[in-house]
Amino acid sequence: MSEPLGLDNGLTNYGDKDFARYLRRSMAHSMGVSGELLSRPVIGIAQSPSDFNNCHRYMPQLVEAVSRGVLAAGGLPRAFPTVSLGEVFLNPTSMVYRNLMSMDIEEMIRAQPMDAVVLIGGCDKTVPAQLMGAASANLPAIQLVTGPMSTGRHKGERLGACTDCRRFWGKYRAGEIEKQEIDIVETRLATTAGTCAVMGTASTMACIAETLGMSLPGTAAIPAVDAQRLVAAEASGRAAVRMAFHPIRPSEIITEASVENAFRVLMSLGGSTNAIIHLTAVAGRLGIHIDPKRLNEISDETPVLVDLKPVGQGYMEDFHAAGGVGAVLRELRALLNLDCLTVDGTTLRERLDGPSGWVDRNVIRSVAEPVSPVGGLISLSGSLAPQGAIFKRAAATPALFEKEGRAIVFDGLEDLSRRIDDPDLDVTADDILVLKNAGPLAAGMPEAGYLPIPAKLARAGVKDMVRISDARMSGTAYGTIVLHVSPEAAAGGPLAAVQTGDRIRMSIDNKTIDLLVDPAEIERRLARVPKLAEVKRGYKALYQRTVLQAPQGCDLDFLVARE
Ligand code: FES
Repeated sequence: MSEPLGLDNGLTNYGDKDFARYLRRSMAHSMGVSGELLSRPVIGIAQSPSDFNNCHRYMPQLVEAVSRGVLAAGGLPRAFPTVSLGEVFLNPTSMVYRNLMSMDIEEMIRAQPMDAVVLIGGCDKTVPAQLMGAASANLPAIQLVTGPMSTGRHKGERLGACTDCRRFWGKYRAGEIEKQEIDIVETRLATTAGTCAVMGTASTMACIAETLGMSLPGTAAIPAVDAQRLVAAEASGRAAVRMAFHPIRPSEIITEASVENAFRVLMSLGGSTNAIIHLTAVAGRLGIHIDPKRLNEISDETPVLVDLKPVGQGYMEDFHAAGGVGAVLRELRALLNLDCLTVDGTTLRERLDGPSGWVDRNVIRSVAEPVSPVGGLISLSGSLAPQGAIFKRAAATPALFEKEGRAIVFDGLEDLSRRIDDPDLDVTADDILVLKNAGPLAAGMPEAGYLPIPAKLARAGVKDMVRISDARMSGTAYGTIVLHVSPEAAAGGPLAAVQTGDRIRMSIDNKTIDLLVDPAEIERRLARVPKLAEVKRGYKALYQRTVLQAPQGCDLDFLVARE
């Protein structure tokens, strides 16, 4: 047990500590807080409500519930604002700002007087940013998520953002539904507060935070509008006060063993490809490295157990009712490192030794009867991606797994949007669509890897094609799509050399992706690729100078743990 310093943490530097304490307390009195409360352990609450972030709409209620828990356990809650990242409201893409938010979190945890912190996040980039910042600050921290949206209804069918957004948009592009119907569907896809309703990036990261041990057990999947989410918030506040007296630091929770557990759970969820980048970045803050070979071993050993969109049928509300992360962990028990610690001070083994509860096997399958016997994501490598690429086999078309085809190349996002629906585009369903210059350095790595099927092919009934890029893909998307090609085109990767008409070969069996062009010719072409224009000022200049590639989690180089 240690004695929390409360408001005396990190006194402002005036050269007179007693004066600094006196001045801080007198200013704190001006907030209308009694002397008795000001002497308690201080629990920071990192909050990010914003009118540009629909997923955080209920955050004020969560802050209130966390504060209630902190007060009941004898602490002083102090909420503070940070950067907020609402996925669809940011240009060029939220990914650029994940690292900025992580810096904000780290620095404000360090700079302000607190003994422990509750991090409330939800939308895609916010939870990774909070985990990255907390890992670097290494103060006792608990992750609380805002929880997933509940589904809407349309013509008797359940709808959830954003897998169904893409499905209906695909139907509209193919001419299967009219403008009037797509306009109605627009109002029925995201009908409550909370994060996207499927196993997209936000929900995958929530499950990863719980698996790592950074969230209280059983809290990842509680729907945003369920009263139990407020109860979880209150419990997180109480747990943070316990941690102020009995510190457990992120570096004791996020270890090689717990990161491996998190990768296993990611595989069995059929979770988002983005989670690989985020988990790599979180681990990198503590000097833990992810080997793509180990990733593939884990994937080949771990079955997909969860039948949720975008890979399967259900929504996050079904996952919660079916047993949530706890049910998945129990199924995977034989494959997990059980000595990993959780923020409540217990080990994973102690958690799994507890009562198991009912499990809905329609949603969370047993290891004996999985959705798929192998994991959802794999790493590919080869002459097109010397440092690797990611493929979500759980969301792809098996008939396209072994494929050689002609490349149809788009030089960037503008070129893609200008030509993809051109009726004169020379393309067939047998071709491979390639997008360059959408990686972390060139474009902030937008979720553009889900290249649309060219309109003329979509109208002819083509639903899937092989698509390759250095971009990311939304966790709610699906298709035979190779992502995160590294190095990206703008960083000198061979992707920059691909030209329309070249042949590309992909083998999921062999986990390879190759450009079938003579290596000397590739070098000649790369020598002619123009350099990226330099950004001269502000955060974007810092980002351009220091951003790392996908296999390093797209973190900024100076934020990664030094050996
Ligand atoms: Fe926030 Fe999907 S838009 S999680």
